[in-house]
Amino acid sequence: MAKCLLANPEHIHTAAQAIHTGQLVAFGTETVYGLGGDATNDKAVAAIFDAKGRPRFNPLISHFATVEDAFDHGRITPLAQSLAEAFWPGPMTLVLNRHHHCPVSPLALADLDSIAVRVPANAQARAFLAEAAVPVAAPSANRSGRISPSRASHVEEDLGQSPHLACILDTGPSDAGIESTVIDARGDVPVILRPGSITQEDITAATGLIPQHPTEAIISPGQLKSHYAPELPLLLDAEKAGPDTAWIGFGPKNPPEAACYFNLSPGGDLIEAAAELYHQLRAADSSGASAIAVASIPHQGIGLAINDRLQRAAHRD
Ligand code: TXA
Ligand code: MG
Repeated sequence: MAKCLLANPEHIHTAAQAIHTGQLVAFGTETVYGLGGDATNDKAVAAIFDAKGRPRFNPLISHFATVEDAFDHGRITPLAQSLAEAFWPGPMTLVLNRHHHCPVSPLALADLDSIAVRVPANAQARAFLAEAAVPVAAPSANRSGRISPSRASHVEEDLGQSPHLACILDTGPSDAGIESTVIDARGDVPVILRPGSITQEDITAATGLIPQHPTEAIISPGQLKSHYAPELPLLLDAEKAGPDTAWIGFGPKNPPEAACYFNLSPGGDLIEAAAELYHQLRAADSSGASAIAVASIPHQGIGLAINDRLQRAAHRD
């Protein structure tokens, strides 16, 4: 069983040592917990795919302690520079052309010519990345297709038994609680490959540009229809629940009759709702109910990312 370690300097050192020996470390960031390994080590990267049960065509994000390190691996563009100035360190991932000398394992890149790079804001995460001193490949630390982890205990539940996992660096509950916004910054206009806690409005305010959305169905290989899924059937935009159904509300309205009750934000705050989303989905999933009903969430600001995750969570192939 992987040990859960408070993210103090001593444990950050232990975790960085584990990365150097090719083991995996789960670590908290401001978005969700990541399952990290040395991105330049083929075996460590293979262990990440194995631990998650993740399809190999789905590339991983490389994490760095500084903006300079990120641009040393992905080729900077004027657009990437202005986005980095506005949002890094922070919950944004940029897809860039990779440098020819980029040492990241082709397995982490799913053999693409591009690389996804991110500089997280969480101070302990960056201290860990600085001490690791290699790009750290890290998908969300959940089994592939399941709900992402926003607490160390979520990682323990999902991956605690994995033989690859050396430890979990506990940085407390994630602030944003929803994954980073993935932006293709190779061209002149930002293309949002995955909505996240940096919103379209934030991007326009920072760059003066209106972001585009990918034209092809799946240009980010990870944008599968079914993802982030609980075990139980999930009903969206619900107004009713019932005695066997867990209710997840939003806002101050009284809930309908249900088996048990959650609320993403009684005050109707979308940022609070994003931070609570995965925690409450997990709790509802293990509540003993036979289905989950979620109230409608406004499609604005970070609400777009919340609805994106809920739709994928509800989709059944
Ligand atoms: O907030 C986050 O981004 C978290 C934390 C741990 O940093 N990580 C995360 O990783 O959500 P993951 O692997 O669950 O999602 C990465 C997304 C996937 O949709 C993947 O397809 C996309 O980024 N991606 C990675 N490399 C790409 C590339 N070269 N081109 C297009 N999309 C890419
Ligand atoms: Mg994920």
